[in-house]
Parts: sequence; C-alpha cells; structure tokens
Amino acid sequence: MRILLFGKNGQLGWELERKLPDLGELTVLDYPKIDFNQPGSLPEIVRNSRPDVIINAVAYTNVDKAEIEPEIARRVNADAVGEIASAARQQGALLVHISTDYVFDGCKGSPYVESDLPNPLGIYAATKLAGEEAILQTGCAHLTLRTAWLYSLRGDNFLLKVLKWARAYPVLRLASDQIGNPTAAHLLAEMIFQTLQLPLKDLIEHSGIYHLAGEGAASRYELGLEILRNDPHPQEQVVQSILPALAADFPAQAERPLNTSMDCNLFCQVFGFGLPHWTEGVRQTLLGA
Ligand SMILES: NC(=O)c1ccc[n+]([C@@H]2O[C@H](COP(=O)([O-])OP(=O)(O)OC[C@H]3O[C@@H](n4cnc5c(N)ncnc54)[C@H](OP(=O)(O)O)[C@@H]3O)[C@@H](O)[C@H]2O)c1
Repeated sequence: MRILLFGKNGQLGWELERKLPDLGELTVLDYPKIDFNQPGSLPEIVRNSRPDVIINAVAYTNVDKAEIEPEIARRVNADAVGEIASAARQQGALLVHISTDYVFDGCKGSPYVESDLPNPLGIYAATKLAGEEAILQTGCAHLTLRTAWLYSLRGDNFLLKVLKWARAYPVLRLASDQIGNPTAAHLLAEMIFQTLQLPLKDLIEHSGIYHLAGEGAASRYELGLEILRNDPHPQEQVVQSILPALAADFPAQAERPLNTSMDCNLFCQVFGFGLPHWTEGVRQTLLGA
C-alpha cells in the first residue's frame, strides 16, 4: 500500500510518521515541499506519488489567529482540502482527513453524534467545516475523523500549558464549564494505524464522517487535575491550589463552544475498536505506556 502523509511536524503528523512505515511505502511531505496556502499546487503532488491512501495532518490550527487572517485559514483548511479530495477522487485513493469537535456550537447538552447539525462559532471552526463539505462535494472515498482537544509532549497544547503554569503560579484557575474529549495524539495516530490495517475496500465501503476522540468527556478543570496528578516531576510544581472557573473569565479573540463532548460509538461499531479512556491518554503521554 502506498501512503502519502501531508504534515509531519504537527502533533498528530509527528506521531503518524513514526507509526505508518509498517503499513507500506510511506511518502511524507511538509514545508517547504508543500504549502497548503497554495492549494493549486497540491493535485500534481498527489498525482506524482500515486497513493492508495492520503492522510492529511496539515491544518491551520491557531483558533484565535484565524479570526484575523481568515483567508489563509480558509485556503489551508478548506480550499487545499478540496484540491486534495478532488485529486484523491481522480486517483481512486482513500483520503483520511482530520476535522474537529469545534464544528458544533456546544449547546446540545449531550454528546454529539455524526448526524447532529454543525454550527461553527468561529473562523477556524467554519473553515474546518468547509473542509469537510469540500470533501463531500468531490465524492472521493474518505474517512473524515472529527477529533478533539489534542495534546502531546510537542507543540502548543493544554497539557504543556498546565505543566508550565503549575511551575510558575501558586493558584491556577481552570474552566469547569468547558467540556470536551481530551485526546492523546499518539493514541489517535494508533487508531488511524489500526484502521488502515483493515482491508482498503472495507474502508472505502464505509467512507464517511466519524467522531474519534478520547473515551469520556472532561472539563478543562478536570483535565488539569489529571495532568498534574500524572506530572512525572511534581517536585517542580509551585502551585498550591487549583480552582474551578468559568470559561467566560478567559476572554479570547475567537468564541469557543462550551460543551462539545462527542459520541464515538459509530466509529467503534463500524471498525471494531475505540480509543482508551481520556485519563489513560494523559497517563500514557506523561508517564509512558
Ligand atoms: N489541536 C487540537 O486540539 C485539535 C482539536 C480538534 C481537531 N484538531 C485537528 O487535528 C488535526 C491535527 O492537529 P494538530 O494539533 O496535530 O495540529 P498542529 O500541531 O497545529 O499541526 C498542523 C501542522 O500543519 C502545518 N501547516 C499549517 N499551515 C500549513 C501550510 N500552509 N502548509 C503546510 N503545512 C502547514 C503546521 O506547520 P507550522 O506549525 O509550521 O505552521 C503543522 O505542522 C488538524 O486537522 C486539526 O484541525 C486538532
């Protein structure tokens, strides 16, 4: 199987590059060989590598900055994705694309299923939804995997921030009303790896949008407590108390949905497995398997 992976330097791409070689012939492309801000350059790249599977781990992920440069966010998260999907269709390749819980407005009050209507609140979320729609429009075979609250020991994420804050401040205040499915990047990569071990024709047959994130939901406050409980160097912490707060206490450029907890049962039923509980992801990331 020939696999083309776009993006190796982000949280997920870094993990995927380490897992995928066992599956076949892997081509990995990143800056400067690809630039998703130039969507028209991508179809030829796809054609030249004649992939059976394309995995897109590239995205414009800066939720706040997207509000001030929406055109770039749209080109990277929607236009480029449409170009890749169209090329995938022409090549007969399966596209594995990653989307987000932020396509929802967070007002449902119970876990979102795939058939729930999206209602993105900000530019990042709107461009990610436009990426999903661009894939659907081409009619290519795809697994569009909506994930949430990704973290790893690399990049810019909540886990690394909490560890840093706990070393700098005596009091931490974390939102207890902002709820999602914390997802370890290495576990998401593992699920993609395992999924791609299934026969390609079965994956193509089950083409569609799926929710795939850490099992169970948590607030930022609960996630913060779990991170600090699993801190491998607790002696470095200076924090004395961790207090629940309201998301509204932390205004940001982009509006964020409050409760985007997702139901991942469809993915589990169709493909026969699911992600471990979110607490296990935190433990494995910080303390190892
Ligand atoms: N992080 C989360 O909490 C979260 C939650 C839900 C869904 N997701 C989705 O999950 C996927 C993986 O997220 P992640 O956290 O691994 O993202 P990430 O760490 O931000 O990685 C994204 C990668 O895309 C690259 N990139 C951005 N613009 C590019 C361009 N014009 N051309 C080529 N490469 C470009 C980035 O490079 P530079 O860093 O050099 O720009 C980076 O390496 C994304 O689709 C994201 O939308 C993430």
